[in-house]
This record gives sequence, structure tokens and C-alpha cells, in this order.
Amino acid sequence: MEKLSVGNGKNYDIIIENGIISRCGQYIREVANGRRAMIITDSNVEKLYSSTVISSLNDSGFETGIFVFKAGEQSKNLETIQKMLDGMANFGLSRSDLVIALGGGVCGDMAGFAAAIYLRGIDFVQIPTTILSQIDSSVGGKTGCDLKSGKNLVGAFHNPILVLIDPETLSTLPARIFNDGMAEAIKYGCIKSEELFCKLETQNPKDFLPELIKECIKIKKDIVERDFKESNERMLLNFGHTLGHAIEGYYNYLHITHGEAVGIGMVMVTKAAENIGLCKPGSSERIKSCLEKYSLPYETSVPLEDLINFCLKDKKRRGDDINLVLIREIGQSFIYTIEADQLYDFLKGGPNGQH
Ligand SMILES: NC(=O)c1ccc[n+]([C@@H]2O[C@H](COP(=O)([O-])OP(=O)(O)OC[C@H]3O[C@@H](n4cnc5c(N)ncnc54)[C@H](O)[C@@H]3O)[C@@H](O)[C@H]2O)c1
Ligand SMILES: [Zn+2]
Repeated sequence: MEKLSVGNGKNYDIIIENGIISRCGQYIREVANGRRAMIITDSNVEKLYSSTVISSLNDSGFETGIFVFKAGEQSKNLETIQKMLDGMANFGLSRSDLVIALGGGVCGDMAGFAAAIYLRGIDFVQIPTTILSQIDSSVGGKTGCDLKSGKNLVGAFHNPILVLIDPETLSTLPARIFNDGMAEAIKYGCIKSEELFCKLETQNPKDFLPELIKECIKIKKDIVERDFKESNERMLLNFGHTLGHAIEGYYNYLHITHGEAVGIGMVMVTKAAENIGLCKPGSSERIKSCLEKYSLPYETSVPLEDLINFCLKDKKRRGDDINLVLIREIGQSFIYTIEADQLYDFLKGGPNGQH
């Protein structure tokens, strides 16, 4: 069992243990004394894991309700939240009861948001079941949903009271979704830990999932906790994301996954930094090979001009700055601020660069 304590003041535990979902009731009972637990899950995860979770909760004396939504980002909207809240009210969930998010990041973000606003805030527990949700979205307290005008535009900060991570649940993930999450693990290596990056380069992550998950969470936890003092730190988590989001946006969030787009973004921005001498030569090649190992793409045919238009969408005014996350070498990241209208030159390799 691996255990981490996260938070600022009001801490909560993250427990990583193979098979923990079949014992989740006991762990949840230690932190919650309510009578009812409302499980929120999606249509895929329901079939795989809800009965195990329900029977463990029942054994620990919880009366359980369940709300299932159709799997996928398309469900991450206010309409689903509304139905979720109605489901919670119909089940008679009171202020002392709790919500349990069982699923990937879509589920965790929505269940957390519903818990944040139902009766002005009730407790919730995260049981993340994708790599991405285990190493990223279940840590940091960000919850919410999308609007038609953009992703994650509505939300609240609401920390869970407990996060239970069962690495064994990852065995049922389709390969593409598993690899999608690995792109975020590679990102953590790039920004903070060469050691982690080397492991991802040379070993099979399936041989060390609990340690891998713990290492990634530790990096995010340190950054998120420090961010309360120095507000720039959290930005480092966005390595590869400025261009990644632009690539996702260009394809209307279809055909390419978030991790795939972020991987391409990491290579592009690192190559550009190498070209103007800000990053150790060879770093972008290393990232590229590592992505290849996980069948992740490392380049895009989207024209640079289109990507830049996406990046600058909200920054049309001249003189606006863009904060890019760069690495000096694998494991060392920093924020590099340029004027919006210098982005094209930077990505092209600078006035003296090659491309
Ligand atoms: N809150 C945050 O800080 C934060 C950070 C990063 C991403 N996110 C959000 O996370 C979401 C993406 O999360 P995701 O990649 O986990 O997507 P997801 O929740 O849609 O899960 C991906 C797919 O995997 C399926 N699935 C989940 N667990 C499974 C399992 N164990 N076995 C088989 N199939 C399984 C799901 O049904 C779904 O089809 C995005 O909406 C993103 O905005 C939030
Ligand atoms: Zn991401």
C-alpha cells in the first residue's frame, strides 16, 4: 500500500493499492459517517466495477444509490450535472452523506462538481479508473464541466475527502486510452524528474504501476501545494498543453486524444527551445522516442499558422504575453514569457533557427 497526504490545511489521503476497490467500503467508513453513498459512474465503468464497489459499501453499512451517464466527454455538460443533482435529491442525499466518483476524469470532474454545489457542498470520494484520472485529474481539487463555448468553463475547487486508487482497474483499459494517460506521465518526467522519464523510456510501466502512479501524484501534489504561495508553479503542469489544446481544438476534440495532442505539443515546443539554445540538444529526440514507445504520435500535419491562431484566440490584442512552459533539459522546467506576436518566430526556430 502506498499512501500520500494531500491538501493545504485540510488534508486528505490518497491510497494506492492493488485490489482496493473490493475493500473500498472499509476505507470510506473511516472518513465518512453518513448513511448514504451515491455512486456516480459512466456506462462503461458501471459494467466493470460498480457491483464490486456497491457490495463493499453495503458491507460497511452504506445504503447505495447510483447515477450512470453515457461514457465520453460529450456527456460532460450541465445537462448531465442537472440530471445527476436530481438523482442525488431523489435518493434523499443529505448534507452528511457522500458522493463517490467511480471512473475516469470525466466522471471525477462532474461528480466532484455536483458534490461541490449540491446543498452548497457535500463530501465526495474519488475512485479513479484511468491512468489520466489516477495521476492527474483526481489530485488538485479542480472539478467542473464543459459549455458549448469551450471545455471546462464551469467549475469549482472542491477537494475529495479520500482518493482510492486501484492500479488493477487499469488492466481493462483499451490500449489507446492507457497510452493517452502515459503521455501525462511522460510530461511529469519532463518537467520534474529525469529518473521517472528514464524508467518510462526503458521499462514496461505495467511492471511498476503503483510506484509510477505514486511518483506522478507526488510531482503534481508538490506543485499544487506550492502553488498556493507562488502562483506560477502550477503552470508547469501545462508543458505541451498550449499547442496540445490548439491541436485538439483544430480537430474539434475528435480523432485525437488529449494525451496524443499534448505529446506532439511537448516535442514541438522543446524542438523550438533547442533551436534557440534554451534547451539541451537532443531533448526533443528523447521525448519523441519515448512517445513512440507508447504508440503516441509526435508530429502533426496541422499548419503552424492554424495552431498559432488557436493559441492566440483569446490573446488577439497586440502586446499580450504568452507563458510557455519549456524545459532546460529532461526533468527541469521553467516558464518562458514571450509576446503573442513572437510565437510564430519562436516555433519556427527563431530568427537564426532551423526548421
Ligand atoms: N480536474 C482536473 O484537474 C483534470 C486534469 C486533467 C484532465 N481532466 C479532465 O479529465 C477528462 C479526461 O479523463 P479520462 O481520460 O479519464 O477520460 P474518461 O473519463 O472519458 O475515460 C476514458 C474512457 O475510458 C473508459 N474507462 C474508464 N475507466 C475504465 C477502465 N478501468 N476500464 C475500461 N474502460 C474504462 C471510460 O468509460 C471512457 O470511455 C477530461 O474531461 C479532462 O478535462 C481534469
Ligand atoms: Zn493534460
